Amino acid sequence: QKGMMRPFHPKFPFIPVNNVSGEIVEVGSAVREFKVGDKVVSKLDFWTAGGLAEYVATSDKLTVARPAGISAADAAGVPVAGLTALQALKAIGTKFDGSGTSGGADVLITAASSGVGTYAVQLAKLGNHRVTATCGARNLGLVAGLGADEVLDYKTPEGAALSSPSGKKYDYIVNISNKNKWSVFKPRLSSHGRVVDVAPNFGNFVASVVTLFSRTKKLSLVSLKMSKEDLGLLLELMREGKLRTVVDSRHPFEKAADAWARSLSGHATGKVIVEM
Ligand SMILES: NC(=O)c1ccc[n+]([C@@H]2O[C@H](COP(=O)([O-])OP(=O)(O)OC[C@H]3O[C@@H](n4cnc5c(N)ncnc54)[C@H](OP(=O)(O)O)[C@@H]3O)[C@@H](O)[C@H]2O)c1
Ligand SMILES: *[C@@H]1O[C@H](CO)[C@@H](O)[C@H](O)[C@H]1NC(C)=O
Ligand SMILES: *[C@@H]1O[C@H](CO)[C@@H](O)[C@H](O)[C@H]1NC(C)=O
Repeated sequence: QKGMMRPFHPKFPFIPVNNVSGEIVEVGSAVREFKVGDKVVSKLDFWTAGGLAEYVATSDKLTVARPAGISAADAAGVPVAGLTALQALKAIGTKFDGSGTSGGADVLITAASSGVGTYAVQLAKLGNHRVTATCGARNLGLVAGLGADEVLDYKTPEGAALSSPSGKKYDYIVNISNKNKWSVFKPRLSSHGRVVDVAPNFGNFVASVVTLFSRTKKLSLVSLKMSKEDLGLLLELMREGKLRTVVDSRHPFEKAADAWARSLSGHATGKVIVEM
């Protein structure tokens, strides 16, 4: 690695930047799949990451080609936020084969304006689900534009209660917001409904264990796994114009600290991009 400059989170140095896209400048002798000049997207390995740099070293196993026509900025959101959204939807049985045969379910997606949420809404619609989504008032139009059938402002009483305008219950809740509680989710679930959490932590781990003993409503955790196949699927959907990255803001390398601040504010709409 060359030109590394504060590759890590300013307050939590153990959190590396790991969603990158760029062009290959050098390859190891054992690498067959890529050559110098290839445009790629990579999800850096957690332990060796540090993507806030002009040059990074990554493994071919974590890297996929970036199709022509997809900008580096659009592709940079795919490795973590897009993968998380895709894997959460796969966990509820969503199929993306375009056959239109996956049944479709009533799905609630919280924090639909977040980096993960903006991908999740689009992917849920591609998987034929009927989508209710929550976000702040300023993003109601954006989220409806991503395809959500119903959009709730999380600051209104109905939004806070996650109640569907049509009165329906949800078969699945993809929980992306960090504020919602099981006690709020439970009454909104259909009889065998399930909550899927994208960010495992102690609290929701305990909740998931407790619901193991429930014969009806359940909560489960999805933790991100690197998959070249999944990354490839996301980029293919982008290439076909079926999936897009919502970009909150772009920041030059010299102002990377502003990007961190924006990301940590909890009020970004879509992805925060640092350009080198
Ligand atoms: N990002 C990843 O790659 C990744 C990977 C795995 C897991 N996760 C998890 O996914 C979640 C989202 O992370 P993120 O970085 O994509 O976005 P984020 O910065 O956490 O999300 C910000 C967005 O969420 C909206 N929001 C905040 N509170 C909300 C609420 N109670 N209900 C509905 N919307 C709300 C905000 O709207 P307003 O500005 O209008 O308030 C803002 O648009 C986090 O829990 C994170 O731990 C993220
Ligand atoms: C990667 O992108 C995700 C999704 O938006 C974001 O939450 C996460 O903080 C990013 N990872 C790092 C460490 O930059
Ligand atoms: C929803 O996800 C957030 C963020 O990971 C977590 O803090 C919260 O406990 C989850 N809610 C439930 C009911 O699991």
